[in-house]
Amino acid sequence: MNKSLYTIAENTLLAPKTYRLVLAGKADVEGEFVDIAIPGFYLRRPLSVCDREDGKLTLVYKVVGEGTKALSQMQPGTELEVLTGLGNGFHPEACREEALLVGGGLGVPPLYLLAKELKARGKKVTAVLGFNKAGEIILAEEFRAVCDEVLLSTADGSAGVKGFVTDAIAAARPSYDFFYTCGPMVMMKVVCGTLEGPGEASLEERMGCGAGFCYGCSIQTKNGPRRVCKDGPVFKKEELLW
Ligand SMILES: Cc1cc2nc3c(=O)[nH]c(=O)nc-3n(C[C@H](O)[C@H](O)[C@H](O)COP(=O)(O)OP(=O)(O)OC[C@H]3O[C@@H](n4cnc5c(N)ncnc54)[C@H](O)[C@@H]3O)c2cc1C
Ligand code: FES
Repeated sequence: MNKSLYTIAENTLLAPKTYRLVLAGKADVEGEFVDIAIPGFYLRRPLSVCDREDGKLTLVYKVVGEGTKALSQMQPGTELEVLTGLGNGFHPEACREEALLVGGGLGVPPLYLLAKELKARGKKVTAVLGFNKAGEIILAEEFRAVCDEVLLSTADGSAGVKGFVTDAIAAARPSYDFFYTCGPMVMMKVVCGTLEGPGEASLEERMGCGAGFCYGCSIQTKNGPRRVCKDGPVFKKEELLW
């Protein structure tokens, strides 16, 4: 874990209430998520790393409460204190040849970095991205530029397959030997319950310290209690109790 100062290089609206935050600073940090100190708020806010390159970290966040609202009002040039190097991420090495990425809503951004890592390893990558409606779609072009195939689903049918990510998967039947999923818990439960073969899911839990000390993010797994921030947030499908 490292504590560093980053400067906001970009903080722009991508979709309703959803922003791309580009932070300039040390980008060669490992870790699945960062924990941002927002002035005036006691607890840091955890956000997944969507991309890291050229001295910049890219995060994508949705305004859901006061902390993210304050973040959305910050201008380029503002400095933020950020904990980096947090969490155990996805394992691209677990995929033999063909990967299936299944993301829903704000679970889509961390799969982008994974898609790049899988392509760098020469894997075939299919991404299935699910949203409520067309106007909420984020990062589809970025995924198309990296993946072999991108399937979209929307709950209201305004883009892609009408329904959920599992409907898009059932319609296209993409081949894969390992799947990776991130999104709402209810989506990941269905994905892990219906997709055959091995896979990993990235969980979200309310956090205190974000670094393994307070046990505030503990969950029960088949292997006993685990801290989402330190032991996860990515867990193997077969470890999880839904
Ligand atoms: C590992 C991890 C990665 C995440 N990645 C992303 C991401 O890439 N993009 C994104 O939009 N959101 C992400 N979230 C959720 C994000 O942290 C919350 O939406 C955010 O903290 C809400 O803060 P708030 O002050 O606006 O909301 P409030 O509800 O006012 O927050 C009150 C408290 O609850 C916590 N909290 C609220 N919702 C959540 C939540 N869903 N998960 C964890 N803590 C929460 C806040 O951190 C804060 O401490 C992630 C959460 C975790 C645990
Ligand atoms: S948030 Fe403190 S141990 Fe996970």
